[in-house]
Amino acid sequence: MKALILSGGKGTRLRPLTYTGAKQLVPVANKPVLWYGIEAIVAAGITDIGIIISPETGEEVRTKTGNGDRFGANITYILQEQAAGLAHAVKTAQPFLGDSAFVMYLGDNLIPDPLHDFANVFKERSLDALILLRAVSDPTAFGVAQVDGAGRVLKLVEKPKNPPSNLALVGIYFFSAAVHEAIARIQPSARGELEITDAIQDLIDHQRSIEARQLQGWWLDTGKKDDLLEANRILLDTRLTKVVNGIVDDRSQVLGRVQIGEGTRIINSTIRGPVAIGANCHIENSFIGPYSSIADNVILREVDLEHSMLLQGAKVEGIHQRIVDSVIGQRAKLTEAPSRPKALRFMIGDDSHVELV
Ligand code: G1P
Repeated sequence: MKALILSGGKGTRLRPLTYTGAKQLVPVANKPVLWYGIEAIVAAGITDIGIIISPETGEEVRTKTGNGDRFGANITYILQEQAAGLAHAVKTAQPFLGDSAFVMYLGDNLIPDPLHDFANVFKERSLDALILLRAVSDPTAFGVAQVDGAGRVLKLVEKPKNPPSNLALVGIYFFSAAVHEAIARIQPSARGELEITDAIQDLIDHQRSIEARQLQGWWLDTGKKDDLLEANRILLDTRLTKVVNGIVDDRSQVLGRVQIGEGTRIINSTIRGPVAIGANCHIENSFIGPYSSIADNVILREVDLEHSMLLQGAKVEGIHQRIVDSVIGQRAKLTEAPSRPKALRFMIGDDSHVELV
């Protein structure tokens, strides 16, 4: 079995973070979200992995992620020239996939369930498609499935205005080579894309063997700011182990599960885990509360924060109110007004969100 990870797209819902990079590379608990997917696939024993990339962010994805050595996998990058839909991505990857069965994995999705359980169901029951469903509060934002009492999939619709159920299609699918024939038969949707949802519907219409499994645990789709903070919270809660490599002075306190990278200095500060701090950071006279991730090369002085993510090279100094539920982008600066008149002064990137009290 092979794997096809989709790591293209424009990441419009995660702007401004995605103006300078791929949404799949945004770090969650200090690791690109895409890498959790690669690790889950490798843990299921699948090592032949194709990654779909876009002309805009592909080079960054390729440079950061590499040829797969670090994951014990073999990664092939496949360029999708235009964002013409998930089924179009599969079409583009057909030379890589050949007639192999494969797991298709959307690079911003994350679930805790081991993939090999699903891969086994898929193989043992000789399916043409195995899809994963999860109950959600707003099904209109997803592909939605209508299932009968026995769990059989009757119908799938992409982002319906009137959802037939609250069961969303999770962005992890198992397919046999039959999906290529289905993709060849479907037409672009109203938004002009070849939808994988329509391809699966086509398999249903052609009486191919399709089953669904419902997920009970968490499912993250890191498409928006709040999803990102939630993913960060869950991964810090479930995956973080205590490792302190930096220097913590004797006026500082490090409590609970905290990871501190090499070259980082903690001076007269309190860190209350779970917290992940990267390498070469400088943290002074500050409090960092639970569910925070601080990437490499971040500077914090006189700051109180919790449940927040600071990306690489961010600098926050002299802010005298607690910062919560925040995502601060790469190299962003948040500092105290140095001169009079005492006032707020901004230089905020396009599509940013700021809430003041
Ligand atoms: C895509 C699929 C949708 C699925 C979702 C899961 O939507 O089209 O069916 O429910 O992924 O993340 P997108 O996130 O590309 O809008």
